[in-house]
Amino acid sequence: MDTPFDLDKKFFLDISRHGNALQLLPSFLRKIEAQDFSTWRDKLFSGEVVNNTENRPALHVQIRAPESRKSYDPLKKFSDKIRQEKKYTDIVNIGIGGSDLGPAMIYKALEPQRDGPRSHYVSNLDASHIQQTLAALNHETTFFLIASKTFTTMETLENAKRALAWQPDKSHYAALTANKDEAQRFGIGAENIFSFPEGIGGRYSVWSSIGLSLCISFGSEVFSNLLDGAHGMDRHFAEAPLEENMPVLAAMLGQYHLLHGRQAHAVLPYAENLGRLPAYLQQLIMESNGKKKTREGVALKSSPCAIIFGEAGTNAQHSFMQFIHESPATVPVDFIGIISPRQNGLMANMLAQAQALESNGRPSSIILLQELNAFCLGMLLAFYEHRTFTEAVFCSINPFDQPGVEMGKKIAKELSPALEKQGDLTEPHKNLDSLLKILDN
Ligand code: F6P
Repeated sequence: MDTPFDLDKKFFLDISRHGNALQLLPSFLRKIEAQDFSTWRDKLFSGEVVNNTENRPALHVQIRAPESRKSYDPLKKFSDKIRQEKKYTDIVNIGIGGSDLGPAMIYKALEPQRDGPRSHYVSNLDASHIQQTLAALNHETTFFLIASKTFTTMETLENAKRALAWQPDKSHYAALTANKDEAQRFGIGAENIFSFPEGIGGRYSVWSSIGLSLCISFGSEVFSNLLDGAHGMDRHFAEAPLEENMPVLAAMLGQYHLLHGRQAHAVLPYAENLGRLPAYLQQLIMESNGKKKTREGVALKSSPCAIIFGEAGTNAQHSFMQFIHESPATVPVDFIGIISPRQNGLMANMLAQAQALESNGRPSSIILLQELNAFCLGMLLAFYEHRTFTEAVFCSINPFDQPGVEMGKKIAKELSPALEKQGDLTEPHKNLDSLLKILDN
């Protein structure tokens, strides 16, 4: 296994510290080939249906390909206008889940390179989130992006109403959505609605108009660099032989560890500005592959994905790394380091952690990015998207739907008015009555 692997000397993957798993990789690669991996990958890249429950393709690879870039012209035109007019100093992106985590994480990662308006990300239904954000802003120089694929998400619509109470002038608003009709019903002018296809999944949508705040804060050229980096990883994923295919190798190692009962997987970016990457990957991986049955409806005996958690290094060394070094529970770790500009202390700490884990037979991978820039970040995010897709193929599951979150939304929609009325619930909710009685008093 001649690791580290590299892509254009900008993205490196070292999987040499996975012990016995490395000997078994060839058998895992044979198994995934037997799962028609190439056919599924071709379907993903060609825009065929890969989301069987919603009968949709997954278009995040297609939209960032060079031949699709004309579709970004409206975003370029709008962001250029905002940047040139300089009327707005602050952008507030109101969204949640995939309509928040991607743009917010990338904004934090690239913030030192910002040369346009500041962006702020409001997501939580807790009113303090938007209140604290708006308290620091000026009504006249703030522009709002209502980011919601469905344009029906309770948190986002509630926060949008709160924003309207603060700035009622609709010329301060744009909508980023796959549901143009709802956005127009909400009162957003057609010229300020930036739509994207239904085939773009929520947690795969930062490459679409959901990324508009990034175009405004960093410029459309930096956003194109992000797309180019992701496209570079797409080409690697599409063309590299499986035994040199970085997302495939990482996915097979992930499945090896899961099959050996290692239910958690830690991601430690050794870069303060990548601090929101673990949260982004939690949704990407756990909302994609946290499923209970296969595409064919067969119940799964074990989880097809790990519990993802993490924290920027070196901080993680002063919180959960003790557990990862010594607990009987083995937790594979992805360390992510930045080569340039060089920070010897930071790099030494990251390598030391990997070395110490290896001396105790504990697995870790090391990913190195040449720089923390849009291109390398695009490579990294596409690497994890394809790792997630490959694990889904290995487990014969659909990574592009999220049936499990719908139940919670349904119950919340019923409880909210009941709590408002402080009256009886239309349906008694098990274990909730005593709590509701407390709330009633
Ligand atoms: O978490 C459930 C979910 O549907 C995610 O898949 C999605 O990213 C998020 O809610 C927000 O959805 P929307 O972009 O439609 O507001």
